[in-house]
Amino acid sequence: MFSRYKKQPEAQPVQPAEQAQAAAPKPAAEQVPSANAVARRPVQKKAAEPAASDRERKRKERLGEIKIELHRELLENLNLAALENAGESELRAEISAIASEVLELKNIVLNREDRSQLNKELYDEVTGLGPLEALLQDDTVNDILVNGPQQIFVERAGKLEISDITFKDEKHLMRIIDKIVSAVGRRVDESNPYVDARLADGSRFNAMVPPIAVDGSLVSIRKFKKDKLGIDDLVNFGAFTEEMAAYLQAAVSTRLNIIVSGGTGSGKTTTLNALSSFIDDAERILTIEDTAELQLQQTHVGRMESRPPNVEGKGEVSPRDCLKNALRMRPDRIIVGETRGAEVIDMLQAMNTGHDGSMTTIHANSARDGISRLENMIAMAGIEMPIKAVRSQISSAVNLIVQASRLQDGSRRMTSITEITGMEGDVISMQEIFKFQRVGLTPDNKIIGHFTATGVRSHYSERFRLWGFDLPASIYEPTTM
Ligand SMILES: Nc1ncnc2c1ncn2[C@@H]1O[C@H](COP(=O)(O)OP(=O)(O)OP(=O)(O)O)[C@@H](O)[C@H]1O
Ligand SMILES: [Mg+2]
Repeated sequence: MFSRYKKQPEAQPVQPAEQAQAAAPKPAAEQVPSANAVARRPVQKKAAEPAASDRERKRKERLGEIKIELHRELLENLNLAALENAGESELRAEISAIASEVLELKNIVLNREDRSQLNKELYDEVTGLGPLEALLQDDTVNDILVNGPQQIFVERAGKLEISDITFKDEKHLMRIIDKIVSAVGRRVDESNPYVDARLADGSRFNAMVPPIAVDGSLVSIRKFKKDKLGIDDLVNFGAFTEEMAAYLQAAVSTRLNIIVSGGTGSGKTTTLNALSSFIDDAERILTIEDTAELQLQQTHVGRMESRPPNVEGKGEVSPRDCLKNALRMRPDRIIVGETRGAEVIDMLQAMNTGHDGSMTTIHANSARDGISRLENMIAMAGIEMPIKAVRSQISSAVNLIVQASRLQDGSRRMTSITEITGMEGDVISMQEIFKFQRVGLTPDNKIIGHFTATGVRSHYSERFRLWGFDLPASIYEPTTM
């Protein structure tokens, strides 16, 4: 029935299906009573709640067992090379025919819903990224984190939860990783154990394989969002206030140089993207990223993506190379997705020499910490300058540090907006204008707090006024709760 796509039979015996069950959580260690046990709260052992209900899970488990067998048969029976030219409907029909045949042979009866689910998963396996495909298509999922074949976590609305999706085994997981990285001309194996790539839909992909990854390959995917969160969305989500948005609009429009600082996944890129919406449409903007994530709305945008070396160690185009070249491309503004290495030198120079209004992000936990990061990056780049000179370079280049944080309840907020005002002796002087004031925690661990101005008037208020952004003095007044 599927002769065209069928390999010549080798009559291999079918292996018994392995149970693809999620690793059971280890029992909590026995509690040893101690004198101060009452004072401490019990430590939560489970990282996350299973996403699906019990019934749904059992159904999936049963389907999973059948699927494992069918996958093997499919992969053994299909002529994958011939499949490349097959159209989608033809392929779906072919897969469904093979599945029916195998189910009949094995005397397995499935209802219509399960059968179509099975066909879909088999199709994903053959053409797409197997178990990951369903998660990639699920718009509520932001991040996909794979810890070996049996454990896939997803992030929804800021919360990590374990999903009921698994790979058959490490070989299966490796096959999907290979499929992704070979599509972008990279390789991952024992000698190149980690790799960055971009999926066809724009999602950012990173994988690390054994033996460096101890319990099976580690995969992290940051899903690409077609509609990035805008300023209004972020205000509605409580990431910052309308007053802070008005201040940021003035800051971006009057071309302050801005650094968005934050930890991993804290919302740096989202914030940078939202801030860019305040840039005038007439300006020429050049963006430089490792993986193109930014989606600028302006007409005049040139996008660059740096490139790591290939398998032979050749062909690298570093962010610094892009940045140096960008300076020859007559930009009004330069946006660097993330500054983490030697490009810091050129970034600061650009900010200091006429490309004001430039923006970037750095990994740091506070504005002060962000400055130290910049200093370290400069030192690591091999620039030998007295610390005072380094600081004075930073303080004249950077005007504003916006701190993005992912708080413990999963919410993402702009926890601080800090201005750099100059130098006092050897120290860079700063003043915080807005901050998120935490006041407590609800019983279900949601953070209670509010945004407030610090009472300090912006160092740039005169500049804002001259550029037509006459912010009312009231936005600098602290909120009393
Ligand atoms: N305020 C917010 N509210 C809800 N979701 C948000 C918010 N900010 C960002 N997100 C979502 O959180 C995820 C991580 O955001 P983003 O990519 O901006 O983080 P990042 O700090 O740049 O991460 P990385 O360090 O990995 O580059 C994205 O899926 C994004 O849509
Ligand atoms: Mg980012």
